[in-house]
Amino acid sequence: DLSPIDKAKFVAAKRAVEFIEDGMRVGLGTGSTAAWMVRCLAERMREEGLRVTGVPTSSRTAGLARQLGIPITSLDEARWLDLTIDGADEFDHDLALIKGGGGALLQEKIVATASDRMIVIADTAKEVAQLGGFPLPLEVIPFGWQTTKALIEETLVSLEVLGRDVTLRMNGERPFVTDEGNYIVDLHLGRIGNPRQLSLVVNQIPGVVENGLFIDICDIVVIGHGDGRVEVRD
Ligand code: A5P
Repeated sequence: DLSPIDKAKFVAAKRAVEFIEDGMRVGLGTGSTAAWMVRCLAERMREEGLRVTGVPTSSRTAGLARQLGIPITSLDEARWLDLTIDGADEFDHDLALIKGGGGALLQEKIVATASDRMIVIADTAKEVAQLGGFPLPLEVIPFGWQTTKALIEETLVSLEVLGRDVTLRMNGERPFVTDEGNYIVDLHLGRIGNPRQLSLVVNQIPGVVENGLFIDICDIVVIGHGDGRVEVRD
């Protein structure tokens, strides 16, 4: 039996997988909710003979898809995708997102942008009135990362952003390293007044590869509740 939170993730994942049609190229997200989606997809392929090619957004998801027998390919091979289904750390009323809690934001953003549609699957706890309670991840190049971090802090001051705590994400004693070989700095902002402006400005800083704000990328959010109810928002 599933806990309410796992039940919520599972029912959202199961509903989202119903959007997948035979022959589609599908971006496979990363995280615990996306893992439910990969399992539900494998089940549909087994039971209905659905043929799908998956493009994973992380080495973790690639491993899971392989283990479940879902054919996968690279984005370079697939080029454009019909649909991406992924989790999120936060979403707001405009379906803007914060992603990257799992550290896969760069591949996730590239894959979602290459897709005709992006569906986010989430439990109710991910819904917020204003983004920023969850720390915003920025993927940065390891070279000169301390200088890059200082530039990020200066940028936050110039934007008059209130919370300015910027931390390097760690994996024990060492910096956390992404699938692309980069570091992540987390911005503890509390709330983000103007996500569109922040996203544009931080991406101008040399050394910053990408940020975890997804704006105008997500088309549909499928929200799972602990009692098994599902809401589809678009
Ligand atoms: C991975 O980098 C993130 O963007 C995930 O999508 C996010 O952390 C959601 O994960 P859960 O589904 O485990 O909450």
